[in-house]
Amino acid sequence: MMLLNLKTFNILYALKLLHPVCVFPNPQGGHTGHLLIMHGHRTDTQRNQTCNWLLTSKTNNRILYHAYDIDVICPDGVSIHDGPTEAAQQKVNNACRDPTNSVFSQSIDTSSGTNLLLKFMSDGGTSSGKGFSLFVISAPSSDCTENTKILAATKKEKVLTSPMFPDKYQKSKTCNWMIMPESKGSLVKLDFKFVDIDYDSSKKTCHDKVEINYGNTTKDVCGSDITKPVKTFTSEAGSNMTLTFITDSIQEENGFVMVYMEVDGMMEPSFMQKYFMIIIIVVVIVAVIIIAVVIVAVVCCCKRKKKSSKNDDVYNPEEVKLSETPTD
Ligand SMILES: *[C@@H]1O[C@H](CO)[C@@H](O)[C@H](O)[C@H]1NC(C)=O
Ligand SMILES: *[C@@H]1O[C@H](CO)[C@@H](O)[C@H](O)[C@H]1NC(C)=O
Ligand SMILES: *[C@@H]1O[C@H](CO)[C@@H](O)[C@H](O)[C@H]1NC(C)=O
Repeated sequence: MMLLNLKTFNILYALKLLHPVCVFPNPQGGHTGHLLIMHGHRTDTQRNQTCNWLLTSKTNNRILYHAYDIDVICPDGVSIHDGPTEAAQQKVNNACRDPTNSVFSQSIDTSSGTNLLLKFMSDGGTSSGKGFSLFVISAPSSDCTENTKILAATKKEKVLTSPMFPDKYQKSKTCNWMIMPESKGSLVKLDFKFVDIDYDSSKKTCHDKVEINYGNTTKDVCGSDITKPVKTFTSEAGSNMTLTFITDSIQEENGFVMVYMEVDGMMEPSFMQKYFMIIIIVVVIVAVIIIAVVIVAVVCCCKRKKKSSKNDDVYNPEEVKLSETPTD
C-alpha cells in the first residue's frame, strides 16, 4: 500500500475525505474539516501503485484547491479530477517533473461540483522526489453590501468570505461588515484561513485589501501565501471590529476565507498577574526559609541555655582540675 502522510490536518467543518484504495495514517479528528493541507509522498518500495482520495464538501459548497511544492519525479504523477470518479474531467493531468526541472506549483483552481478526486501514481522504480502538497478549502460565499452588515460573533466559529467565493471576487467593489461580540465585555477574534488578494509584490502594497479597524488600530490584509494562510487579529476591549473589503478596477483573485468568534475579554495581564504563581512560590520559599531560621535559632538558643544551665549544675572543679593537669 502506498502511504499518504497527512502532516497537517486542520479541522473546521466542511470537507469529507474518503480513501477507497489507500490506507493512510488515521487523520486526527476524523474526516471533516473545511480546510485541509495534505503532504503526500511515496517510498521506494511503493511501486506500480495508484492511490485515490475523494474529497467531498459536506455543506454542498464548491471546493477551492491548490497543488503546490510538486516534487514528484515522472512517470510518477499527481492528477485531480473535477468530480467523484476518474470519468470526470481531469483538471490536473499527471503533474510531475523531470529531475532536471525544479519543484513547481499549479495555479489555484475550483471544483465545479462538490467533489474532487485526487490520484497519486507510482511507477516501478524507486522514488527520488519529496512528494506534493495540496491545500483544499470549502466555505459558503458571503454577501457584499456597501451598507455595513452587522454580524454577531459567538463562541462558535462562523465563516466570512469574499463575495463570489470560491470564484474570483469582482472589480471595484466595497463591502462593509461590523462584527460585534454577542456577550458584553468579550472580544472578537478573526482568523484568516485563506488569503489571495491582489497586491504589488515589489512595492509590498495592496491593490485590493481587507481593511480591519478596531479601537485605533487599522490593519490591511492582502497578498497570497497558501503555505502560511493564517493571520489572526483580536479586537480591543470595548471596540467593535469593522471590516471593509475594497477592490480596485484591475485584477481579481480568489479572495479570502476567515472565521470569526468571540473570545473572553481578558485585559493584557499585568506584571503581577503574569508572574503571580512565581511570586507566590518565591514568597512561600522565603517565608519557609525565615520560619526555618527562626525555629533553628530558637532551638539552638534553648539548647545552649539548657546546656549552660546543666553545666552549671554539674560543674565540678575537681574534674576540671584533673583534665587541666599536665600529663607528664
Ligand atoms: C511495475 O510495472 C512494470 C511494467 O508493467 C513491470 O515491468 C515491473 O516489474 C513492475 N514492478 C513492480 C515492482 O511491480
Ligand atoms: C485612540 O485615539 C484617541 C484620539 O487620538 C485617544 O484619545 C485614545 O486614547 C486612543 N485610544 C487608545 C486605546 O489608544
Ligand atoms: C458597537 O456597535 C454598536 C451597534 O452599532 C454600538 O451601539 C456601539 O456603540 C459600538 N461600540 C463602539 C465602541 O463603537
